[in-house]
Amino acid sequence: MSTPHLSAKPGDIADIVLLPGDPLRAKLIAERFFESPKCHNEVRGMLGYTGTYKGRRVSVQGTGMGIPSISIYASELMNTYGAKTLVRVGTCGAIQPAVKLRDLVIAQSASTDSSIISTRFKGMAYAPAADYELLSRSVNSARARGFQVHVGNVLSTDTFYDEDPEAWTLWARYNVLALEMEAAGLYTLAARHGARALAVLMVSDSLITHDKLSPEERQTGFADMVTAALDAAIHD
Ligand code: HPA
Repeated sequence: MSTPHLSAKPGDIADIVLLPGDPLRAKLIAERFFESPKCHNEVRGMLGYTGTYKGRRVSVQGTGMGIPSISIYASELMNTYGAKTLVRVGTCGAIQPAVKLRDLVIAQSASTDSSIISTRFKGMAYAPAADYELLSRSVNSARARGFQVHVGNVLSTDTFYDEDPEAWTLWARYNVLALEMEAAGLYTLAARHGARALAVLMVSDSLITHDKLSPEERQTGFADMVTAALDAAIHD
């Protein structure tokens, strides 16, 4: 039995799944980090692969951008394929001066301006949080490898192009580190399904300085992020 968005058969996907937004990143992660990767999904071009990493069966699945899109893939992965450890790997925009391009931001919690979660909680404020074990292992792995790491709250925003270019400053005043678009949705659904979730993010741009990483810098930084995510995820 497949799902509306995943054509894999149950058993074709591992219980550990990395979740990049970009399906071509999923392909790159599988080719670069997995032994014997096999493509398990091509529906809508949202590529997914399963292979092994350090002897442990693992999968990677593209999710698309935004909470609605990642919610579809995360729900189907948990409900139909038995995913238990879901780690988002992606980019974020820094909104604190100490958070520099190419640093890693590990999202301990994820605030959101999306109404999806407040609607689910009848207007009350749920606090989407990472799995502590995954969080702590990824931070230790990243620090041991000498990567620059920040751990804290991120904003999962619904709006990439905000009408108000200063909208992020409200969140910055409350010590939110960076903007991205999916973690709050992933954390909320993982909690509901008894699964563990984490988002490991690389800073690709700064809303303060307007600097951006070059495509080459994105590639090397991306490898650091995937390594920290896989090290945390495969540890049972
Ligand atoms: N906003 C939202 N998501 C992002 C950004 C941003 O500025 N940069 C990278 N992902």
